[in-house]
Amino acid sequence: MMPLISLVDICKHYVMGQDTVRALDGISLDIASNEYVAFTGASGSGKSTLMNILGALDKPGSGDYLLNGRNVAQLNQDELAEVRNRDIGFIFQNFNLLPRLSALANVMQPLIYRAVPLQAREHAARIVLERVGLEKRMHHLPNQLSGGQRQRVAIARALVTQPSLLLADEPTGNLDSATTRDIMQLFDELQREGNTIVMVTHEPDIARHCQRVVRMHDGKIAEHYWN
Ligand SMILES: Nc1ncnc2c1ncn2[C@@H]1O[C@H](COP(=O)(O)OP(=O)(O)OP(=O)(O)O)[C@@H](O)[C@H]1O
Ligand SMILES: [Mg+2]
Repeated sequence: MMPLISLVDICKHYVMGQDTVRALDGISLDIASNEYVAFTGASGSGKSTLMNILGALDKPGSGDYLLNGRNVAQLNQDELAEVRNRDIGFIFQNFNLLPRLSALANVMQPLIYRAVPLQAREHAARIVLERVGLEKRMHHLPNQLSGGQRQRVAIARALVTQPSLLLADEPTGNLDSATTRDIMQLFDELQREGNTIVMVTHEPDIARHCQRVVRMHDGKIAEHYWN
């Protein structure tokens, strides 16, 4: 079967005066649908750079990134935006919620770009907010929610478009250990329900949740194993 993701010799180099930073230096990797993968590695090893490429937020300097058989590395800005909206759900360490919008309105937001009518947007958002256990918090603003609840809103927002791929860059980095366990349990359930999850974490406990661990070092894959 065709992998969901195929990375072929992905490089991203930044020229800084005399120096070249090899943020990504020849990454090749396939990820199948419904896999649960953790990227780990020291600070500066290229994890976020790779996540941004996987999420179509950035393009590689060279190499190919096939997502559902389509070469994302060659798309223009409009096509990248379409891939982001249709195929990707991105979850950030700092939640990235819109502060003036309720939990419900935040989750409805990605569907606006798809011209989904208001009632259908609200219906879809309510379903995913219930899925993440926030049915009683839909009308709260982000600053009226706990950190764990904010991250649940962000996860609901990522799920509402039914993306092919959930990407999470240190999703529990701002949460205490009890809340981290709850959020990781939610990710585990989402994977069992059929989602494909790619996560960045520097915590070994979290990497152990995932089926597959890819450790990066200086822009390269240093180690790669299955739990
Ligand atoms: N826009 C940029 N210009 C120049 N260098 C960059 C740029 N973005 C990232 N880098 C460099 O690329 C390398 C990889 O950065 P990246 O953010 O991917 O690391 P990371 O593994 O996510 O680290 P952390 O665990 O601290 O989040 C770093 O050395 C960084 O300084
Ligand atoms: Mg990072």
